[in-house]
Amino acid sequence: MRGKLITLEGGEGVGKSTNLAYVRNLLEQAGVDLVVTREPGGTEVAEKIRSLLLTPSEEPIAELTELLLVFAARAQHVETLIRPALERGAWVLCDRFIDATYAYQGGGRAMNLGVIAQLEQLVLAEVRPDITLLLDLPVEVGMARARARADLDRFEQEQMSFFESVRSAYLARAKAEPNRVAIIDAQPALEKVQLQIQQALQQLGVAV
Ligand code: TMP
Repeated sequence: MRGKLITLEGGEGVGKSTNLAYVRNLLEQAGVDLVVTREPGGTEVAEKIRSLLLTPSEEPIAELTELLLVFAARAQHVETLIRPALERGAWVLCDRFIDATYAYQGGGRAMNLGVIAQLEQLVLAEVRPDITLLLDLPVEVGMARARARADLDRFEQEQMSFFESVRSAYLARAKAEPNRVAIIDAQPALEKVQLQIQQALQQLGVAV
């Protein structure tokens, strides 16, 4: 792999969109050939799977179905967009990736981490994030922001305890892999958050 894969993660309402635009700008200004994408989704077919995952439905989606849909979308995304981009030397900036599965399905849904790891190996093979920025915020602050927006999607309708587990699982991932995952405190004013992002990218070896 010649390019780098940078992922942006965090719970609901942590400011991913604004900060994704900031990272994009930094990298483009540094002259990086950049592909910006998101999960679940990122390709036509994967976006259809995203809408299955996010749209509330009368029939409840079983946890295993949810996990397999997340990985089905990811398989399509990795095979058709991410791996080819990295192979040609482009960098990929992805709004959520594998850590979201450990956080939401592993933490929030308390699904078996060994099963997630097996699917990770099958679907990602050698493709792994080089750098992950984890935007972290107390759950009640993030949820207040998320709930102030438009209609809630299927995940946003979960209970606070679900999001507490999501947050803990994200922080555990960061603790286990400090050389890959930078925790960004998303609570202060935007300039302070962005300063942390800039420093983290420098520390993790991305000179911008
Ligand atoms: P977002 O793009 O607005 O953050 O919405 C995506 C939702 O999908 C979010 O609630 C987290 C959820 N999700 C998972 O549950 N597992 C995953 O692996 C990914 C990538 C997202």
